[in-house]
Amino acid sequence: MSDRKPFLAGNWKMHKTVEEAVELASGLAEAVGSETGRDIAVFPTLTALPAVQDILLDSVIKVGAQTCHYETTGAFTGEVSAEMLKDVGCDLVLVGHSERRALFGETDEIVRKKLEAALRVELPTILCVGETIGEREAGRTEEVIKRQIESALTGLSAQQMATITIAYEPVWAIGTGLTATPEQAQEAHHYLRGIVRELHGEVADQVRIQYGGSVKPDNIAGLMLKVDLDGALVGGAALTADSFAAIVKYSEG
Ligand code: PGA
Repeated sequence: MSDRKPFLAGNWKMHKTVEEAVELASGLAEAVGSETGRDIAVFPTLTALPAVQDILLDSVIKVGAQTCHYETTGAFTGEVSAEMLKDVGCDLVLVGHSERRALFGETDEIVRKKLEAALRVELPTILCVGETIGEREAGRTEEVIKRQIESALTGLSAQQMATITIAYEPVWAIGTGLTATPEQAQEAHHYLRGIVRELHGEVADQVRIQYGGSVKPDNIAGLMLKVDLDGALVGGAALTADSFAAIVKYSEG
């Protein structure tokens, strides 16, 4: 067991009206109560963000945004900057989710700029990395996640690193029901922590690495037994209060 505090986060993606989001957030607040042994966050859509923040104001659950633009202001129709997220009291932002990379053309360079934007306003981030099935089958998993991590994290200070969580999300496991085995996840997490250690030294032992990809109430405990797994980034199973609360309250083996 490491002394890193488990961090469970729910990415709601493009789901929930404001009313539905409020219902989910209220249910979660009630189910999770005053749990302090674990860090918990949810990432609603921007339209539901203020209402969810209101509901969770007095709870232990933090509220983040799913992405941000890297410029501060300007002619970028449809975008929202890290400054604007900070302005509305957002606690966190997700950067580099594989859906952003695959569907919205986010390159490693753009991901780096977004991370820098979040750091500029001291907004803690979850940086997502992960390989596709083709890359895994071609034996390129390590090469791909190394490139993604080095591009995002090279040259940052130890203080900046302390505000970043990494989410290892193999693309083939996201939304597919195909979870990586605890062993596959541990192998990738151990490798990632080694890269962070090469770049930043000892702070690597403090950086939390979440696993993401079809995490469910019945597989979280097995994943969390692994020494380099420090939490989870959950999609589908974060959309109901019961299942996300069960994930948050997984029992330690
Ligand atoms: P999933 O999504 O849990 O539905 O696989 C995970 C994610 O995209 O963060």
